[in-house]
Order: sequence, then structure tokens, then C-alpha cells
Amino acid sequence: MESALTARDRVGVQDFVLLENHTSEAAFIENLRKRFKENLIYTYIGSVLVSVNPYKDLEIYTKNHMERYRGVNFYEVSPHVYAVSDNSYRSMRTERKDQCILISGESGAGKTEASKKILQYYAVTCPASDQVETVKDRLLQSNPVLEAFGNAKTLRNDNSSRFGKYMDIQFDFKGAPVGGHILNYLLEKSRVVHQNHGERNFHIFYQLIEGGEEDLLRRLGLERNPQQYQYLVKGNCPKVSSINDRSDWKVVRKALSVIGFSEDEVEELLNIIASVLHLGNIQYGGEDSGNAYITTDTQIKYLARCTHGNTTPTTLSHPLNLEQASSARDALSKAVYGRTFTWLVNKINVSLAYKDETYKNASVIGLLDIYGFEVFQHNSFEQFCINYCNEKLQQLFIELTLKSEQDEYEAEGITWEPVQYFNNKIICDLVEEKFKGIISILDEECLRPGDASDITFLEKLENTVGGHAHLTTHKLADGKTRKVMGREEFRLLHYAGEVNYNVNGVLSCTHSLCVVHPQVMCMSDNKILTQCFDRAELKDSKRPETAATQFKTSLAKLMEILMSKEPSYVRCIKPNDAKQAGRFDDVLIRHQVKYLGLMENLRVRRAGFAYRRHYETFLQRYKSLCPETWPSWQGKLADGVSTLVKHLGYKPEEYKLGRSKIFIRFPKTLFATEDALETRKHSLASKLQSSWKGYSQKTKYRKLRSSAVVVQAWWRGILACRRAQRKRQAANTIRRFIKGFIYRHNERCPENEYFLDYVRYSFLMKLRRNLPKSVLDKSWPTAPTALIEASEQLRKLYMQNMVWGYCKRINPEWKHQLEQKMVASEIFKNKKDNYPQSVPKLFMGTRLNGEEINPKVLQSLGSETMKYAVPVTKYDRKGYKARPRQLLLTSNCAVIVEEAKLKQRIDYAALKGISVSSLSDGVFVLHVPTEDKKQKGDVVLQSDHIIETLTKVAICADKVNSININQGSITFTMGQGKEGIIDFTSGSELLVAKAKNGHLSVTAPRLNSR
Ligand SMILES: Nc1ncnc2c1ncn2[C@@H]1O[C@H](COP(=O)(O)OP(=O)(O)OP(=O)(O)O)[C@@H](O)[C@H]1O
Ligand SMILES: [Mg+2]
Repeated sequence: MESALTARDRVGVQDFVLLENHTSEAAFIENLRKRFKENLIYTYIGSVLVSVNPYKDLEIYTKNHMERYRGVNFYEVSPHVYAVSDNSYRSMRTERKDQCILISGESGAGKTEASKKILQYYAVTCPASDQVETVKDRLLQSNPVLEAFGNAKTLRNDNSSRFGKYMDIQFDFKGAPVGGHILNYLLEKSRVVHQNHGERNFHIFYQLIEGGEEDLLRRLGLERNPQQYQYLVKGNCPKVSSINDRSDWKVVRKALSVIGFSEDEVEELLNIIASVLHLGNIQYGGEDSGNAYITTDTQIKYLARCTHGNTTPTTLSHPLNLEQASSARDALSKAVYGRTFTWLVNKINVSLAYKDETYKNASVIGLLDIYGFEVFQHNSFEQFCINYCNEKLQQLFIELTLKSEQDEYEAEGITWEPVQYFNNKIICDLVEEKFKGIISILDEECLRPGDASDITFLEKLENTVGGHAHLTTHKLADGKTRKVMGREEFRLLHYAGEVNYNVNGVLSCTHSLCVVHPQVMCMSDNKILTQCFDRAELKDSKRPETAATQFKTSLAKLMEILMSKEPSYVRCIKPNDAKQAGRFDDVLIRHQVKYLGLMENLRVRRAGFAYRRHYETFLQRYKSLCPETWPSWQGKLADGVSTLVKHLGYKPEEYKLGRSKIFIRFPKTLFATEDALETRKHSLASKLQSSWKGYSQKTKYRKLRSSAVVVQAWWRGILACRRAQRKRQAANTIRRFIKGFIYRHNERCPENEYFLDYVRYSFLMKLRRNLPKSVLDKSWPTAPTALIEASEQLRKLYMQNMVWGYCKRINPEWKHQLEQKMVASEIFKNKKDNYPQSVPKLFMGTRLNGEEINPKVLQSLGSETMKYAVPVTKYDRKGYKARPRQLLLTSNCAVIVEEAKLKQRIDYAALKGISVSSLSDGVFVLHVPTEDKKQKGDVVLQSDHIIETLTKVAICADKVNSININQGSITFTMGQGKEGIIDFTSGSELLVAKAKNGHLSVTAPRLNSR
């Protein structure tokens, strides 16, 4: 609980003991309301659990929740029915003391649900084996069977338990559930024959009719229609939307098998249920004598069949009037059903009983699911019994609580401070005391001869206990009370409040058993009935006990059982009458808080100290609030707590230190401490956080650093290795290199192969980088001696390749040009001075186009194709007069043309040679044979494009080798055996003139290139 105390402002307090204003009912209810609104249906009063019915499924009963509460201290987790269950279980295991959980509350407050939740908790969380599984199943399955036969729809609850139930769960030494035992109390038998409007009979009747197989119903003589049965129509609501009788029937049938009912037993049980229905349908007619007779034969037939098999029923004659007959019929029905129910419980007990002798010393947890205090407008004998039961339970509670408080104080060595509380023993005595008690008076009145009636009982009550402080009647009451009391009522001042009981029918209720003669039932063939109505009962001459005495006895037994166990309490409250979720009806709740005696509970619990805890727990939780106890206290726990509370400034009246526990008187002291802890938690949390962060960062850093060092070391190692390896390699290389250098002139051998390879490699690499870029580039790296030949080969190959590539790229025109240039080069290179100037100039196809040549000339040339034409200057052979002419080259001859005249034709075949000077002039001589009469002699010509012209002539005439390049002068024939001479000299400019010596003097300009 401590861990959740911090949330107390939001959802009130989890333990009413911590309510500041613990005497205020309003504060109590407000706390309940706050928590209920947050779906927190459970709250403690010390160790008592207060549960408010949520009327909706909350997600708080899962297996996970069960696990959360398993083995955990009661105060460590939020209040829950599982916490109570687990606490009882652990106490049973550790202290080996039997436990009981008392569940009480109004009808519909959730008692049965709570008891089922507890049972489920044990079934799920306790250790198990195969045999235990069967017992667990049977324990769980006993619920639907008992609910079918003992529960009914009432106005307050659609599944209202109409009997009180005490169930023992037995555990072996390992803590596994090994058996169980059920005690039932006060079944509301009147429901069998009558139901108030809006209520139903016990579920089993409807389940059988709705869910029973056709065959079964036929055998039982039943129809699938509840409206047909008088006992099922009184409340006028055979069908309820929240109840599915058909599916419930299946559940019950299965549960019966699990529990161990044979098919025959089930059939006989259902026979009884059917016979009750048939009984209810028996009609009477009135005879003249006033006696009643049965008018419904069919019912009798089925009734006989159901209860007597096929034998003829024994007839008993007992004359009764109409009213008596009906009441006897109903009494019989009630008795049959009531006893069958008891038989059923016994049968279940047989099935749950543990058979193994080794389990003899089993520990027990008892579950008591019994009606809470009931106050209606009209309260009958039943309410009397119920409230009497609650009075006894309250007495037990007070005794045990006070006792445990006292024991604790004693154990802790703290002086016991008497607690003011109302001891209800006086009321219990008023009800149960021998001879003077109400029950005794009732018994007496019931069994005495003469005309006893409900009123005579009331009078007797007035006479015997009239003066009692807790009892009054209409007659004895003061004026004010008399106004709210009927004449047939007596009022009891219960611990929880005043209740008026109506005495009407009290006598019949208690002695109804006497009216029914069980002879008939004893003779039945139905085995269950014969067990229910024992023949020994007939022979017993003792006065039968009345219902009230029977109840008193069974209650005394129950008290004995409970007294021998350590109790835990679950107090159930229902929040509204409409069975609605989320509705919190103040008036209704105040009523329940009062009648459940919760304020009284709280008062007793808070009488001394609001809070107590073991030193260890207390110190553990709050040690951080005191520097001496933080972070740990080394001395005695008690001293630690004492130091702590002194530091916290507790005043002496606020607390007491016991032997093992600290007791704190006021909740406010605890809350102040809690608040201080809350504040402290923040600083602690940030301190923790910062040291944790520091620690984790430091750890991270250290890890990183050591990793970095490792990585660094490795990396350095690797680098050093590589460096060493490189050095080694370098040294080897140098060594080999030097050795190779020394042996370089030897044949290839291991000593020099590296060097040679290297030289070759480096030459080739150098070559690769320095290859000639064009065909004209003649550069080539110098090869080492060993590679001269290879280098030369490579060079050739490379040049060839480059030339070949170049050639591949050039077009035919360019090729032609180059061929001509080649020819020119062959002829003139280094021989004639103006040759270099001609190299970059392209040779033209012709220097004269078609229009520049006279057509007549072309005509006279006929079919001969013109290959080249150039304007030239012709020098007469005699006077060396210069005359402009055209030189045409055809495929066969060279022709000298003057305007339209073909002046001279020289066939190539007749061309003896061509002479030219080595200087830069353009003069040349075409030599013709002297014997050719047609020719007048050699022709002296001058062309501005001498290299081009002569190359063309040489090519056309195929006279490449016939061009003479002369130094100084050229001799030529002038015809008739005469010769002329041309002298060549260098000068500043070109000058062609006849010299005085009769020679033709040619002055050629000097060129820079020379
Ligand atoms: N814890 C719970 N969670 C959800 N619903 C609940 C819870 N407790 C009770 N209820 C609802 O309330 C109804 C009545 O509960 P239950 O039968 O346990 O009441 P009761 O106290 O046993 O009444 P009675 O005295 O009439 O037998 C249940 O059928 C269920 O619908
Ligand atoms: Mg119930």
C-alpha cells in the first residue's frame, strides 16, 4: 500500500484507517465514491476489504493480476480480493493456522462473485498435480450446481443466492488444494411455492424446462413451457433477458458429471424437480363434508411415476379442508426441495472429500458467503434469522478484531488502551438465551399444546423479555415509536440499527416440518428421496426441532468453526438498486455502511493507532529522510527507527515504539512523512540519475578508450609490419639492382635478370610515354645497349604502323598531291635553291583553266587530254627575247602555245632532258634531239612555279631521271648545230638578260634559307 500512498489525493485513501476524519460517515462515503468513480472498487479498513459492486466487467481479474498479488505483502499492492486471498493462503502456509474469509453484504452486493474470485485465485495460483486438478475442477464446478438449485432471480439480484454457504477448501502440506466441504444454511424454501412479483423460482426449474432434451422432458411428463406450472408463474416473469437458461442447463449438466453424479442419480434428481412442479399443479375440489379432493389426475400419475417408479403408490388417508390441503401440498413441496438441496450439498461433499489418509492434517481456508443484514418494509422470520446470523458474525468480528489488536499490543509491549465499542453480546443473548431468549420462546409457543398463534407468541415475548433494552413491541413502545410500528410487530435494536419484525406466519414457518408426514416419502422408490426422508425419523419419538432452533444450532456450530480459524473479512456493498454500472446511490450506500457496521469496524481499528509497521519495513521506506539512517543503518532496527522519527520531529504522543513495530497514532503524521518522502524522492532520483549517468558514461568512455587502445596497437603493428616489409623489399630491390648492374654485361643469369628486366621495363615505359606524335616526328628514346635491336625493330614497326595509319586516313586527292611532292623532292631536294619554298605550297591541278586557253588550241590537240597548263616566258634562241607563252602538257606531249597557235610540240618520247639551275630562278631548258628536223632546237622557258611545272613535266613525260640540275651554266642547242649558254649567278633580284658575251645571263635572287 505504501507504494501507492502517493496517489492518495487523486483517489482518496486506500485504507480508511488513514482517513483524517475517521468518525465521519460522510468522509467515509466520499472516499468510497472517489475511488468508485475511478473504478477502484476495493478499499481496506485495516485488513478488512470493502468491495463495491461495479456492475461491469473490470480488467482486474486476469491471470496477470493474480500473479501480481501472489506472494506479495498485503500492503505492497493496491487493495484487491486477491490480496486478501493471498494473505490468508500465506498465513495458512507459514503459520499453519486455519483461515476463513467472511464475505457479507446485501443481496446483489457481490458476495458470491467475490467468493468465486477467491476460489479461482486458489485454483490458478496454488501448486497442482493431476489429482489436485480434479479437485480444483470439482471445487469450481460445485458453484454452477449449487447456484442452479440454490439461486434465483430476485428483484435485487438476477442470480441471488437463496441460501447461506460456508465452504472449506483443504490444502495439503505443499499448499495444493486437495479437498473441500460445504455447509449450507437456511435455504429460502418458501420460494419453491411462491415468488413475489418480478421474481423467479430456483434456476434449475427453468433450466430443466428450457434446456432439457425432448426425451427427458417426456419421461418426466414435463412440457417446454414454464407458464404451465403453478410454482413458476407466481412472479410472472419466467423469462429474464440477462439469464440464458438453455446454456446454463448445459453448464450444470457438465458440472454434475465433473462432480461425479451418475446418469441414474441425475435422472432421479430431475425426477424430484419434476415432481415438485407436478405437485404444484395439483388442484383441489371441495367435498360436501368440507374435505378437499384432488381434481388433477394426470399430475398424480406423473407424480407417482416420478417418485415411485412403476409401482402403485400407497394411499394414505388424511382428511383436510381445502386450505389445509393446499398448505400441506406446499409444505410437502418445500420439504422435498429443501431436503433434496441438502442431499445435493452432501453429495457434492462426498465428491470433494479428500480420500487419502496422508492428507489428514490438511490446512483449511473457509469461505463464508452469507446474507448481510437485511431490513425491509416488512421483515419476516427469515430476516430475523439472517440478522441474528449477522449479529453473531459481528460479535465474532469484534471479539476477534479486538482480541487481535490486544494481542498485538501485548506482543509489542504497548499498554492496551481500552476501546469504546458497542458489545452486541446483549442482543445475541436476547435472541438465543435458553428459556429467556426469543428462539426459546418461539419454540415453546410452537410446540405447546393448545391454541398457539403468532399473536400469542408476541404476547409471550412481551411478558418474558418485554423489559429488555433492545426489544420493544407496539404495546410497549412509546408514542413516537408506536407510530412506525405495526401491532403485529416487535422491534429489535440490532448493533446495526432498529428492525421491526412481523410475527405473521412465524409459527408456521418454524413448525411447518411437523405438519408434513414423511411416511409417504420414506416409501418412495426414488433413492434420493429415501435418503432425504429417513425411516429412522419416523420412529424417533423425540419432539422434532423447530427451524429456529435448528438454525441456532447450526449457527453455533458455524461460530465454533470460525472461532477456530483466523478470519479475514470482505464487506460487499452494492452501489445502486438498478444494477447499473457507474451509479453511486448515496442513500443506499449510507444504509449499507451503517448495517454492515463499517464505521464501527473503523472505530475499533482506529481506536489506538492508525498505522503500524515492522521496523524493517518502516526504516526501509523512510530511511532516506534522515542523514544518519541514509543510505543504510548499521545498528539495531529499533534504534534506527527512533533516530529517524526524532529527526522527523515526531512528538511523543504521535507514536509508540513496540518490540518489532512502530505505531503511529494519526494519519496526518504518516502523510507528512509521506510528503517529505515524495519531495526527497525527487532529489534522490536526480542524484541517482546523475550518478548513474556519470557511471554509465564513464564505463562507456573506459570501454571506448580501451577499445581505441587495442585498435591503435593493432593498427600501429600493422603499419610497422608493412613498413618493415616495404623496407625489406626496397633493400632487396636495391641489392638486386646493384648486383644486376654489376652483371649487366653478362648473359642473362639470376644475378642480372632483375636488373635487365627492370631496364627493359623502364625503357618500355619511357618509350610508351615518349612515342613520336606524328609521322614527321623523328624523336625516339635512346635504348640501352641490350635493347638497341629491339628498339630499332619497335621504331620501325611503330613508324610503319603510324605511316600505315596516316595513309589509311588520307584521301585520293591528297595522295596525288603527296606523290607529286615526293617526285619533286626526289628531283629537287637539296639541289635547287627555291625548292624549300615550294614544299609548303600545294601543287595546282593546272594554272590555266579552260577559258584561258584558246579553243582552237584545244581543238587542234583533239582527243589528247590536257594534264597541266601554265603560263611561261619563252626566250628566243637568238636574241633571248622574252615572249609570253603557255605550256600545255598532255598525255603524250608538251605544247608551247602562243595565243591560238601551237608554236612547238615536243613529244615526250623526243624529250631528251630538262636542264635547270641550282639557284632560285625559274628558267629551264627542254632539250630536244638535234637531228629532229621538226624541232628548231632546245626551248628556254621560265616559269614562276618552276618546281611544280618541272615536276608535272617529269611525271607526264616520265622523265624524272632526266632533269639535270646544273651549277653555273647550262648549254643548249639552238638548231643547225649551234649552241647557246645560259649563265646563272646569284643576285639580289631575278634578272634575265642577254649578256655581253652573248650568253643568256640569269641572276637568281638569294634566298634567306640558303
Ligand atoms: N466484482 C464484480 N465485478 C463485476 N460484476 C460484479 C462483481 N461483483 C458482483 N457483480 C455483479 O453483481 C451481480 C450480483 O452479485 P452476486 O450474485 O455476487 O451478489 P450476492 O452478494 O451474492 O447477492 P445475493 O445475496 O443475492 O446472493 C453479479 O451477478 C454480477 O453481475
Ligand atoms: Mg450470492
